[in-house]
Amino acid sequence: MSPQSYFVTTPIYYVNAEPHLGHAYSTLAADILARHMRQRGADVFFLTGTDEHGEPIELAAEREGITPQELADRNAAKFEALMPIIDASNDFFIRTSDPRHSAKVAEIMQRVYDNGWVNKGVYEGWYCPRCADFKTERELGPGNTCPIHEIVLEKVREENWFFRLSAFQGQLEGLYEERPDFVVPDFRRNEAVSFIKGGLEDVSLSRPTLKWGLPLPWDPEQRMYVWFDALLNYVTALTFAREGEDLTDRFWPATLHVLAKDILKFHAVIWPALCLAADLEPPRRMTIHGYLLMGEKKMSKSLGNVLDPFEVIERFGADALRFYLFREVSFGQDGSISTAGFESRYETELANDYGNLASRVLAMVERYRDGTVPIAAVDVTLAEDFEGVVPRFSELLDRAELTQALEEAWKLVRRLNRFVEESQPWVLAKDEADPERLDEVLYNLVEGLRVTTLLLVPYLPASAETLLAALAEPERALADLGSRPGGQSVERIPALFPKIE
Ligand code: MSP
Repeated sequence: MSPQSYFVTTPIYYVNAEPHLGHAYSTLAADILARHMRQRGADVFFLTGTDEHGEPIELAAEREGITPQELADRNAAKFEALMPIIDASNDFFIRTSDPRHSAKVAEIMQRVYDNGWVNKGVYEGWYCPRCADFKTERELGPGNTCPIHEIVLEKVREENWFFRLSAFQGQLEGLYEERPDFVVPDFRRNEAVSFIKGGLEDVSLSRPTLKWGLPLPWDPEQRMYVWFDALLNYVTALTFAREGEDLTDRFWPATLHVLAKDILKFHAVIWPALCLAADLEPPRRMTIHGYLLMGEKKMSKSLGNVLDPFEVIERFGADALRFYLFREVSFGQDGSISTAGFESRYETELANDYGNLASRVLAMVERYRDGTVPIAAVDVTLAEDFEGVVPRFSELLDRAELTQALEEAWKLVRRLNRFVEESQPWVLAKDEADPERLDEVLYNLVEGLRVTTLLLVPYLPASAETLLAALAEPERALADLGSRPGGQSVERIPALFPKIE
């Protein structure tokens, strides 16, 4: 069977500020899916990067007295540096100030223009420079404020080019009818559909006052509204991510865009329309997650309230952070995170439930069987609880149910701990009362730990590697309980998640 291609993306992040945990969150979600799909033998391409044009960057640079490019270079470097720190396995990092991106954007937008999907007109509306977005009257907060940034907005009136979004109303409705899983979860899909059904207006494509943006190929006096330049990253990247190679045919349309609800409208409404306007196939699917909250407010640089991912990782390691975020907050929903909650899950789940289980199993095999895993039969009761877990887990991740999939794996961790308590290998080992049962128990513990750890690879990549090496497991493909006969030599390792001092 030829391996399936799987192209997963994150939003590209604005460089007007430094990376925070919210950005890490989306990137990690995409990373978990990318790693899992690699385990399933898919041909994976995982893209992330930075969105470097637009007024927010222009304004932030002005405040600091530097050029937008200088600010972009400085902060893009920080986003790029974040990736290995959180253990993101992205295949490319796109920067929209890359001239190869600009050239491709000009080519595609010219096509949109040639196809007749662009009009000139006058724009009057409420513009938020921090969102780089116009707000409708309906969206405004009290006192004509931005509902996200809580700043007072100005009404602007200017000559603009417009993208004829309204012309795609019917096609978009058709797309949503044909593809029930175009946007997941369902409640986000419904939001997108009701936005479309509410009637689409044309959207501003350029701004005459903007300096830090790409020129429109047919009217270079006007600079492109950053969202068009930004959305197109998903296709331009494929044309230059690999020197001398164009990956478009191999990976487009994208399998999955990962993003939060704040940019739903751009991705679920404007983006598929723009694809159609540019003779590109729209992406296959997008998954919309919620916000990480600290003290009820969305965590962001502009509102403050930032939990520094660098600091967390320095103390606990990237695996612990990855685990916590997808365990604590049900993926798709908003959810609160806290230092206290983090430490508690680290202690009880990572250190005790999983780390301790691994240490005990390896120690018992060494003590009772000189480090060689016995060859024995699968325990019937354990087999019941492992039955069908691989397809169940995979299916959850196919639907981007990252928290539920992790819970499936964690059920097995808890089951293995119960198995240790029930079978009491230390009692069986006394005088070797029942050596066959002890063989069976040890074999099943190693086997259970192996199968469970293979599932956990995308969530806990570093710890899983260490443990799988100790278990002498050469494969990374998902496996069923009993698919390995035993007989291998295992090694003890230091605690995977040492207790917090
Ligand atoms: N540059 C645009 C995206 C263009 S994509 C073609 C942008 N950038 S951003 O820096 O503001 O990033 C927004 C995204 O960052 C959100 O959609 C989400 O993926 C992530 N998050 C930022 N803060 C977050 C939380 N507090 N919680 C969860 N995700 C967060 O919008």
